[in-house]
Amino acid sequence: MSDLGRADWSDPEQVKRLVSSYTQRYGPIFWMAMQKLTGGQTRTTIADLGCGPGLFLIDAMSKYKAKRVIGLDASEEMLKQASELLRGRLPEKDIILKTVDFDSSVLGLTPRSIDLAFSGFLLHEIRNPASLVTQVYESVADRGFYAVYDFVSGNMQAFVDHMKKSGMSDVEARRRYPHMCRHSTSDLQRMLANAGFSRIESSVMDVRAVIVGLKGKE
Ligand SMILES: C[S@@+](CC[C@H](N)C(=O)[O-])C[C@H]1O[C@@H](n2cnc3c(N)ncnc32)[C@H](O)[C@@H]1O
Repeated sequence: MSDLGRADWSDPEQVKRLVSSYTQRYGPIFWMAMQKLTGGQTRTTIADLGCGPGLFLIDAMSKYKAKRVIGLDASEEMLKQASELLRGRLPEKDIILKTVDFDSSVLGLTPRSIDLAFSGFLLHEIRNPASLVTQVYESVADRGFYAVYDFVSGNMQAFVDHMKKSGMSDVEARRRYPHMCRHSTSDLQRMLANAGFSRIESSVMDVRAVIVGLKGKE
């Protein structure tokens, strides 16, 4: 995969940038879509794959009344920030943060142990997203969900306009479009279906989409 789709996530400035842009990326429209697609009931164990600085886990733990959170990421710098931000929000033993590179290692989660798995702005960055989604399926408990949130292809101009609002030049946004909008909403739906998820539903928000799949039958 080209580096145009990803930043240097070990750079402390990128850690800060993800923290400061969190509210804008995970605002009320995102949470409305998430809760509509996953329902609001308790999700005891939540795993965030590519958790970055851990802010999704903090919000998700209160919205879904989680008792245990797991954050996996290749960047130790991101996990250090996540550890600082999550400290004290649950007993230490119930906050699990692990360095895993999804391009070279398996997820290593206990089969059928996760009630809500999530990946935000990750699948366009990794070499083999279909393989990761299959591993996520194995780790999700029966009647658990996997939610994917990412940029989606289909409207380059809307992507360019979106990125320009956060300071990117027109030329740079056009260069990055095929890398950051690597999948369409249908591609992501198909990936979840091929892994075994059912009742796949999506909510498209400008150039981003949330796609949710259920494990097992309703
Ligand atoms: C765009 S950031 C998103 C972080 C977080 N999900 C958020 O939305 O704030 C992508 C994250 O995925 C992680 N990542 C990228 N490629 C990875 C890989 N191959 N294995 C594990 N983590 C990876 C990066 O370290 C980074 O924290």
